Amino acid sequence: MSDQYIIAPSILSANFARLGEEVSNVLVAGADWIHFDVMDNHYVPNLTIGPLVCEAIRSYAVKDGQAACIDVHLMVEPVDRIIPDFAKAGANLISFHPEASSHIDRTLGLIRDSGCQAGITLNPATSLHYLDYVLDKVDLILLMSVNPGFGGQSFIPSTLEKLCSVRRIINEHEAKGGKKIRLEVDGGVNANNIAQIAQAGADTFVAGSAIFSKPDYQAVIDSMRTALKPLA
Ligand code: DX5
Ligand code: ZN
Repeated sequence: MSDQYIIAPSILSANFARLGEEVSNVLVAGADWIHFDVMDNHYVPNLTIGPLVCEAIRSYAVKDGQAACIDVHLMVEPVDRIIPDFAKAGANLISFHPEASSHIDRTLGLIRDSGCQAGITLNPATSLHYLDYVLDKVDLILLMSVNPGFGGQSFIPSTLEKLCSVRRIINEHEAKGGKKIRLEVDGGVNANNIAQIAQAGADTFVAGSAIFSKPDYQAVIDSMRTALKPLA
């Protein structure tokens, strides 16, 4: 696995009737993380999966004999109550939308105190000012390249410029001695646009429909890695 570039398939587009098998198969096919989309029909207009399902797939999320990262993307409001449940269910990384939290610093603290890495997620039209004052408590910044709620949407091109701005912010933070922060992008990512997205600064790529809509997951992941190779 390349630590520089992480591919995190979103199981939102997997076959829910065979979820454990889908998780194992996509990791065997070369994925690094499992992206776990949690929607509440309140913050976003869709309803998906919760801590019980996270716990159920935990033992399937294994890569080369090691636990693979379950990357939980919370699209729920309020946020705080459900965080310890996901930590107990085996989540490794939990990210949330700042508009859905009344106390962003407290939510970040809750995630880290529960033993998980913390991510902050920004919608396509959400300002970068949410990153002010919290970088020291953030392990990952997740930029949405679609409006959250559904898989299978098209990548919003203005995300590229936003990625460049966030990459600059992260680089400055790291140059000042701050710890490494991953820059993840979520929505409409596929083998044709992944290189351009990486060039703009992303190092972690969520892809749902691009992978699970094809019969051969390995072929899709391989083509993503091939597209990334010249940049590595
Ligand atoms: C959207 C979700 C995404 C989505 C990605 O709200 O957060 O993770 O499932 O799916 P694709 O790759 O199909 O856009
Ligand atoms: Zn997501």
